[in-house]
Amino acid sequence: MRDSEFEFIRSVVYERSRISLGPDKRELVSARVGKRLRATNTASLGDYCALLQAPDADEELGHLIDAISTNHTFFFREIAHFNFLRDRAVPELARGGREPFRVWSSACSSGEEPYSIAISLAETLGTAPWSIEATDISRRILDKAAGAIYREETVKSIAPAVLRANFQRGVGPQDGNYRVKPALRERVTFRHLNLLEGEPPFREPFHVIFCRNVMIYFDRSTQEELVTRLTRRLLPGGYLFVGHSESLTHIKHPLQTVQAAIYQKPLKP
Ligand SMILES: C[S@@+](CC[C@H](N)C(=O)[O-])C[C@H]1O[C@@H](n2cnc3c(N)ncnc32)[C@H](O)[C@@H]1O
Repeated sequence: MRDSEFEFIRSVVYERSRISLGPDKRELVSARVGKRLRATNTASLGDYCALLQAPDADEELGHLIDAISTNHTFFFREIAHFNFLRDRAVPELARGGREPFRVWSSACSSGEEPYSIAISLAETLGTAPWSIEATDISRRILDKAAGAIYREETVKSIAPAVLRANFQRGVGPQDGNYRVKPALRERVTFRHLNLLEGEPPFREPFHVIFCRNVMIYFDRSTQEELVTRLTRRLLPGGYLFVGHSESLTHIKHPLQTVQAAIYQKPLKP
């Protein structure tokens, strides 16, 4: 990959998603772009760069971002967040279920995160009003998330009783697949959203926002902008969860640290 091609790919990816690709990512970019060359039947990297500049490049740009960013996720990832949600955030903020408890899974990938939240809220809030908004920049991954079907190896870390209570086991051609039960699926709304573009389409603020394992892709100023945006969407006293490798110590923000990777919006500004 020539310097000029790497620079071009870096700049279109940044413009579109704000994902910041340092020089150390050159090999990764080269491998992932190679996949897109094969998928689009494009002969050379030069031709692929030209394709990205065409007026109808929007769809391919989406595929490129998909190829560059990783969607890796799993059920109950970073279990401390789910324990905190159940043991502290819900009892403290749900006010006896008088108003809907709202959670935003803001880079939800293939759905394991929002459905883990849904299972936790079903256990704590039961039939009281609660809902989850789940967003991601990748339309492909959102389709998978909305389908809510997972292979046996993906759900094998879930305790058998929790699995039985919340998933339907496939039969016949669906053998080996597990689908999240409708009672949970109907509480989760999936939408396409670039976290750094435009205003998120939500009228009501959230009690808890999950923004995990996505901030690592952004440079420091973008991280600051993102935390400011997310904080605006939190209720006073609401919580922001970030990935365990994404501490906010190096950026300016108005939140109080509660414990590792958990922050709270002050009650008074
Ligand atoms: C590694 S996954 C994290 C999934 C989940 N939050 C977790 O912690 O397991 C990162 C996700 O962030 C999404 N993403 C990357 N840039 C984004 C952006 N600018 N806006 C919204 N989502 C983005 C990717 O599509 C991917 O699904």
